[in-house]
Amino acid sequence: MLLKENMIIVSQREIAPRIYEMVLTGDLVDSMTIGQFLHIRVPDATKLLRRPISISQVDKTKKEVTLVYRIEGAGTELFSKLCAGDILDCMGPQGNGFHIDFLEEKEAALIVGGGIGVPPLVELAKQLHERGVCVTAVLGFATADAVILENELACYADVIVTTDDGSYGIKGYVSTVIDEMTQTFDAVYACGALGMLAYVDRKFEKHPHAYISLESRMACGMGACYACVVHLREQSNVANKRVCEEGPVFETGSIILE
Ligand SMILES: Cc1cc2nc3c(=O)[nH]c(=O)nc-3n(C[C@H](O)[C@H](O)[C@H](O)COP(=O)(O)OP(=O)(O)OC[C@H]3O[C@@H](n4cnc5c(N)ncnc54)[C@H](O)[C@@H]3O)c2cc1C
Ligand code: FES
Repeated sequence: MLLKENMIIVSQREIAPRIYEMVLTGDLVDSMTIGQFLHIRVPDATKLLRRPISISQVDKTKKEVTLVYRIEGAGTELFSKLCAGDILDCMGPQGNGFHIDFLEEKEAALIVGGGIGVPPLVELAKQLHERGVCVTAVLGFATADAVILENELACYADVIVTTDDGSYGIKGYVSTVIDEMTQTFDAVYACGALGMLAYVDRKFEKHPHAYISLESRMACGMGACYACVVHLREQSNVANKRVCEEGPVFETGSIILE
């Protein structure tokens, strides 16, 4: 069942240029799982569409959820102006997230993240780590000042950072590192820009447990309007999939990425 709540902002801070970390509290936290998102109303009556933002970290004991978002346009700009004590109208948690139940202690997982796709991977790494899974995270950013959540991930994973211009970590893309790896992984999870997802999708196309988390333009965010459809790669299958309902996480090799 889809829930809605006025969640209260506990804190908000800028963690990199135009990138904010917001902590919210409310009962919705009880039902949140990894890789899902919240569909958040912009506090401005002229903006009717909610904005989807991934769940980055969850603390069920404190009933707190952490979101990390980048200012893209008017909606996220307004989010960034809010302060502790302010209220946000949130719908969710929505979507099918990351599956980890099949992994056993001492098995290995690879996490691949790029830019503002990194936030949902923090809770994933945390829960994999709690399961005793050995986690390697390869994160790619444009430049040094865009690097986010490296320290948070380092609590649960061996982290390797790349930057496009070499201003921090290894110069190059996540593929620069992953193509050199000899280790095999029992599961692979990726979230980031389309080019990066296309690489992971190709590289791990036949992997039995490799998953990519997609973004798309959304309207209703609850499966009713079909604004967010993606197409299945299998020609014989005419069914579309909705990123907000069947996604945002899909198996590699299943979706046409364009
Ligand atoms: C499942 C999902 C999870 C996301 N998680 C995060 C996250 O954790 N952190 C983060 O910074 N961003 C995330 N995004 C992207 C975020 O939703 C957009 O950046 C945001 O909606 C832009 O709103 P705006 O008003 O600032 O920009 P505007 O450009 O003014 O938005 C106009 C419209 O386009 C839509 N839109 C614009 N960009 C996107 C986009 N990339 N994806 C989907 N809809 C978009 C908005 O919902 C809005 O309806 C996520 C998107 C999806 C689909
Ligand atoms: S946004 Fe309406 S069906 Fe996905």
